[in-house]
Amino acid sequence: MTILVTGGAGFIGSNFVLDWLEQSDETVVNLDALTYAGNLQNLASVQGDARHVFVHGDIGDRALVDALLARHQPRAIVHLAAESHVDRSIHGPGEFMKTNVEGSFTLLEAARAHWGSLGDVAKAAFRFHHVSTDEVYGSLAPGAPAFTEAHPYAPNSPYSASKAASDHLVRAWHHTYGLPVVTTNCSNNYGPFHFPEKLIPLMIVNALAGKPLPIYGDGQQVRDWLYVADHCSAIREVLARGRVGETYNIGGWNEKTNREIVHTVCALLDELRPSAAGPYARLITHVKDRPGHDRRYAIDARKIERELGWRPAETFETGIRKTVVWYLAHADWVANVQSGGYREWVSKQYGA
Ligand code: NAD
Ligand code: DAU
Repeated sequence: MTILVTGGAGFIGSNFVLDWLEQSDETVVNLDALTYAGNLQNLASVQGDARHVFVHGDIGDRALVDALLARHQPRAIVHLAAESHVDRSIHGPGEFMKTNVEGSFTLLEAARAHWGSLGDVAKAAFRFHHVSTDEVYGSLAPGAPAFTEAHPYAPNSPYSASKAASDHLVRAWHHTYGLPVVTTNCSNNYGPFHFPEKLIPLMIVNALAGKPLPIYGDGQQVRDWLYVADHCSAIREVLARGRVGETYNIGGWNEKTNREIVHTVCALLDELRPSAAGPYARLITHVKDRPGHDRRYAIDARKIERELGWRPAETFETGIRKTVVWYLAHADWVANVQSGGYREWVSKQYGA
């Protein structure tokens, strides 16, 4: 048995692939374009493992995707490949439309053709699992109930609009063509291999380098944080037992303001790697706000708990401690990402 994972060299994708190979003997074909966010060093521990087949390529390349599906006959596609950073989407939305919308469309069409060619048993068992975000629901007022799966879509950034578009395509491919899909909408992840453009890893690496810790606006924006291993276990559950055509919200029951997050990171660093220059919180700086900045996200994760018995294993306190410890122990990974060294390694390995 084989699954096809897209975006498996990124933050969540690499955690998912490593977790999958730890828990099962099923082969993973990992299709990733290795954009700036893709890092094969994340997968160093499975290099040479015959159960991991890495393919350097684009989800928008229909001929390549067709060939992979024909050759490996995966029983499922777990679709994580995306442009994922809101700030980048504000500066340049084009790549987000290309990968998140057109790329997802191409992948769906290839999946539909492959699924249509299967025999009855394989056809019934096949799944297209689309990994999406809570940002498609837009922003919540303080005190408003958390997002359920029935919350109306109201994406506010080019990133969330592109993810919402892909969610709609996935839904339509099920309703119109019968493709057996499941979609998960997850809150903010954090943990190992998180690219240091996102809030938590940026704060850790900047603090250690004695650089400013930039908080956008008043820092009172709220996110619902989930340790990445918990997201991986939720995806496994939904893929295995989720109802076809359904969506499941995944969250950590951990609403925190950005200021709280940054102060928590600083306090952990003060404890684990004290600085001679004084507490890390001295580096906090308030900077210009993100345009269109969503004020609050919060996930109501009762459906996945009720139907599949899934709940996060980590609290925020345990997860953030593990994360800070991981970054302290992986200074080489951070240095390679910051110097761009991981990309040089890719071009050495893959040439042109
Ligand atoms: P990431 O940016 O770390 O990784 C994305 C990966 O996709 C990279 O390895 C990149 O090389 C690859 N990729 C990009 N364009 C591609 C293309 N055209 N073809 C093939 N591969 C391509 O992202 P992430 O944070 O790991 O997010 C993974 C998925 O989960 C995304 O779909 C994102 O929308 C979703 N998500 C993320 C979060 C979060 O907090 N990070 C939360 C909810 C949902
Ligand atoms: O909610 C799920 C989403 O979470 C995912 O779909 C996205 O892929 C992922 O990037 C993340 O989006 P956010 O925009 O919430 O994450 P980010 O880490 O960029 O920012 C988290 C919060 O911190 C947000 O309110 C903006 C703020 N921030 C971020 C950065 C990078 C700062 O205040 N300063 C910063 O330097």
